[in-house]
Amino acid sequence: MSDNGVNTSRRRFLVAATSVVGAAGAVGVATPFVKSWNPSAKAKAAGAPVKVNLSKLEPGQQVVVEWRGKPVFVVRRTKEMLDNLPVQDDLLRDPKSEKSEQPSYAANEYRAAKEEYLILVGLCTHLGCSPKYMPEVKPMEFEPKWKGGYHCPCHGSKFDLAGRVYKGVPAPTNLVVPPYTFESDTVVIVGQDEENA
Ligand code: FES
Repeated sequence: MSDNGVNTSRRRFLVAATSVVGAAGAVGVATPFVKSWNPSAKAKAAGAPVKVNLSKLEPGQQVVVEWRGKPVFVVRRTKEMLDNLPVQDDLLRDPKSEKSEQPSYAANEYRAAKEEYLILVGLCTHLGCSPKYMPEVKPMEFEPKWKGGYHCPCHGSKFDLAGRVYKGVPAPTNLVVPPYTFESDTVVIVGQDEENA
């Protein structure tokens, strides 16, 4: 991406990070924005890791937390969601995530340290809008073979429920998996792992 592209992306990301809060709040239970799980404003300003309690996250549900000013999607994937991942591989640009950003512990078919939990930076890799969580398995106007995933409202990029980008859309790479580590079975720390302690 050119320098100009990067700058544009950063500007749009700021807008997207702001708008995602409103969007998440609007749909309530489906995508709660859990402020109580965030650190203090002072800690956020310093880019501190964010501790997320997963114990109340229902199967299929997503929460959005904020880390370093970015939305981070956390989804508790169902068995059906996991089973559907390989089905779409032929439609994806980088199904093995060889050209996409992720920590080594997420370099697997689930793009996750624990397959049940999908954790992604919630910014489209095209120009930084925040893609919409659309977990339903049904034909969509934008994808007749839709098995659930993310749809970016800005220019139509599509990603599956591992954040892998579809072919033929503007986004060049899969959604980014941020560093994270599980403190326990139900608590994850976003922004910190052994490589980023
Ligand atoms: S920013 Fe997502 S498709 Fe352009």
